[in-house]
Amino acid sequence: MAATDSTQQDNQGLQESRVFAPPPDFVANAAISGMDAYHALCAEAAADYEGFWARLARQNLEWHKPFTSTLNETDAPFYKWFDDGELNVSYNCLDRNLKNGNADKTAIIFEADDGTVTRATYQELYERVCKFANGLKARGIKKGDRVIIYMSMSIEGVAAMQACARIGATHSVVFGGFSAKSLQERIIDAGAVAVITADEQLRGGKHLPLKSIVDEALALGGCESIKNVIVYKRTGGKIAFTEGRDLWLHELVADQGAECEPEWVNAEHPLFILYTSGSTGTPKGVQHASGGYLLWAALTMKWSFDIKPQDVFWCTADIGWVTGHSYIAYGPLAVGATQVVFEGIPTYPNAGRFWANIAKHKVSIFYTAPTAIRSLIKAADVDPSVHPSKYDLSSLRLLGSVGEPINPEAWMWYYKNVGGERCPVVDTFWQTETGGHMITPLPGATPMVPGSCTLPLPGIMTAIVDEAGADVPNGQGGILVVKRPWPSMIRTIWGNPERFKSSYFPDELGGKMYLAGDGAIRNKDTGYFTITGRIDDVLNVSGHRMGTMEIESALVANPMVAEAAVVGKPDDTTGESICAFVVLKQARPTGEEAKKLALELRNWVAKEIGPIAKPKEIRFGDNLPKTRSGKIMRRLLRVLAKGETITQDVSTLENPAILEQLKEAS
Ligand code: WTA
Repeated sequence: MAATDSTQQDNQGLQESRVFAPPPDFVANAAISGMDAYHALCAEAAADYEGFWARLARQNLEWHKPFTSTLNETDAPFYKWFDDGELNVSYNCLDRNLKNGNADKTAIIFEADDGTVTRATYQELYERVCKFANGLKARGIKKGDRVIIYMSMSIEGVAAMQACARIGATHSVVFGGFSAKSLQERIIDAGAVAVITADEQLRGGKHLPLKSIVDEALALGGCESIKNVIVYKRTGGKIAFTEGRDLWLHELVADQGAECEPEWVNAEHPLFILYTSGSTGTPKGVQHASGGYLLWAALTMKWSFDIKPQDVFWCTADIGWVTGHSYIAYGPLAVGATQVVFEGIPTYPNAGRFWANIAKHKVSIFYTAPTAIRSLIKAADVDPSVHPSKYDLSSLRLLGSVGEPINPEAWMWYYKNVGGERCPVVDTFWQTETGGHMITPLPGATPMVPGSCTLPLPGIMTAIVDEAGADVPNGQGGILVVKRPWPSMIRTIWGNPERFKSSYFPDELGGKMYLAGDGAIRNKDTGYFTITGRIDDVLNVSGHRMGTMEIESALVANPMVAEAAVVGKPDDTTGESICAFVVLKQARPTGEEAKKLALELRNWVAKEIGPIAKPKEIRFGDNLPKTRSGKIMRRLLRVLAKGETITQDVSTLENPAILEQLKEAS
């Protein structure tokens, strides 16, 4: 756990002094209206932590069997919430809306890649999910089974997740950009019994394969547990079918009834597993529970997004990431919202697509990632016709940012040009493991400072500590922790409780604090948090989490490669980019040969993990900088990647001459 370095902090606006108060009319109507209301909720949590959460869980969810136990700490850090209560997540997202008079309200506005729009009301979504759930049951899929979802962005993707939740099956969505090998590894780790996929996906006018990648993954072996591959026909592209195993979704649901009694599950029942990157070569299956997770997905829709019945909510994430779980598949439905689900990409047919979609669907709450904002700033600089000012964005009332630090300049552009200086911007800090927002401004309360995620939500006990777990004073950087368990927290790493403990509740910090893996600093005067970046071997490229070890393992799996070290390099658009230092078994290539081999290795990584893990840059060396005990000095590689001069002490280095060689891209 390295302390955060000051150069990074300065780039992230720690010197920022601009403050933006939430607009008064927003404050007047907000769910949490004004800082006094925020402080009152924090005080309630501080005075009676369990009472606070119990009240919220009773008010925000419908329980089949009410809970009497709120927080069970007997097996800490395997905390349990509401663990004698029973509910069903899909019931809370669908049936509850039918009872509440939302049956004819639009649940999903689906905007396809080519601009075609399809809508589903809550009644229609309910029926689709019930038929889907009945179909799954007809194939013998039952409570506790794991189901892999490898799907494009679609109403069917959301319905697949909801259908699993309805029958108590635990889903694991794998992002459609992951390779066959990554998919196979996840299928095996989860011990899944079925895969739900589509024939192809459509992105930016291109047909991209899904089903054929599933076939490839299953052919890699070890996936004998998979008995069913259910295929949603999206494009009608030609695909292979394996008799007895594969079946079309439309055929599966054709004869199913439109009602399906939900499977009532314990609040702790695993709703989903979502694989994410950590410090080692293998991804971790982050396991979430049902009750606590849904509570927070719903409540943050109300608190952070101030969702109102008339809002049109649009989260641009993919359901393959946690943001698409909490703020597409579950949160918006749990509060009866109308939301846009978008199949395409921000730059097709041109870089004004986001703004065009907002105007077209009268989106009022828009939630996206800093990378997208930064790339659209650049696009609008080049082509003024795709500048947000060219579109009618008057429907917007709130903007959100997620996934990576937003630099103050991007924040300002977003606030001014997209939000017209009237929309609060919520910079939401959270993680796959946290289930929902942790630190974020409240749009009707918190004065905003560009580049700061400001203050923790009520009930979330974040703090900054040193490497021994002691609090550090404001103004001093340290390690971000959460001092009390919260309902939507990760329950364990699927099949690996030991790794769960050592990753998130390390003994060094006393075993009771949740270690987020990020560095942070609080402002001396306001106590506002600014996230200074990961303190482990995790990179954040375009808001996607990538483990350096995962990419290194992929590289060394190539027969040409002797050794590889991967580091992050700051990037104007993607936040960070991947820079790999590689030693080949053959002599160090130069010139055209180096270019050719670098390209080959980049494609290799795409095949091993997925295109998102492709190193942007590959440098070849005769060796890597190592200490005398043989440890690769990544600290030095980071400096080299940035193109900076090494000022650190290199006296422990066994082979200082190597630094010269690795200075420049091959
Ligand atoms: C980073 C995405 C700064 C952080 C929801 C975290 C952020 C990792 C922010 C989790 C933010 C996310 N400001 N950094 N607002 N939001 N991060 O699991 O490093 O894909 O640990 O979850 O993204 O990424 P994950």
